[in-house]
Amino acid sequence: MTTTRGLRDLDRPITMLTAYDALTARIVDDAGIDVILVGDSMGNAVLGYEDTLPVTIEEATSHTAAVVRGAEEALVVADMPFLSVGVDDSETVRNAGRMLKEAGADAVKLESGPHTVDLTERLTQLGIPVMAHLGLTPQHVNQLGGYTRQGTTTEAAEEILSLARDHEEAGAFALVLEHVPANVAAEITAALDIPTIGIGAGPDCDGQVLVGTDVMGFGEELPPFAEQFGDVAGEMRAAVDAYREAVEDGEFPAAEHSHIEEGVDDLDPTE
Ligand code: KIV
Repeated sequence: MTTTRGLRDLDRPITMLTAYDALTARIVDDAGIDVILVGDSMGNAVLGYEDTLPVTIEEATSHTAAVVRGAEEALVVADMPFLSVGVDDSETVRNAGRMLKEAGADAVKLESGPHTVDLTERLTQLGIPVMAHLGLTPQHVNQLGGYTRQGTTTEAAEEILSLARDHEEAGAFALVLEHVPANVAAEITAALDIPTIGIGAGPDCDGQVLVGTDVMGFGEELPPFAEQFGDVAGEMRAAVDAYREAVEDGEFPAAEHSHIEEGVDDLDPTE
């Protein structure tokens, strides 16, 4: 079983991938991925929303519970959806607590900023492990004007480093760094004791994360830092096409898919 503390002791890069359902979680878990993130990327990856903002706490809880049912070994981290944390302190605790109490997650991830330092400390004190997330935080897409690179000036990079230190001190057990220059991520990684997990942050983070549907070949438009490692969507299309053709051609169901019940015949059509 992967634990939040155990991540620090791995002598190889940490592997993290998103999943949103039990079926996929089982496959990801069987493959030996260390951490399954039930990302709010479920919004655009599988729920049909334009971005992550509409994802509700109910959707996140339900998908997290499904992933927990499918995973045996991986650490399951529930991503807190837009406005489910930070609006009101007791609501934040209740919502984050639901992920552990109701859905069975091991930890939560908060898209972080100056406003999440105290929240991270409070949740950690209460026994809710927190993974922080700095750099590109997609829930701020409307302020950022797109999914743009972050930390591209010395001042911006120093701000990320300072926030990373604040979150480490507040008790975060790991830090996701998204879409920041590789040299900035390397310096932040060297400055922290907690592991950094990069997405578009170069090779020197302590681990890597990608969106599972991008890796598997469902992503229609991949971010520049992602890579497609398979074509599951192509396999699905082929299977569905083959099924449709078999039904339309009268080849399915075949004799082995049906059975005859002897003695059940001569039904009275008027009954
Ligand atoms: O929601 C998500 O999938 C994420 C990862 C991209 C880190 O936050």
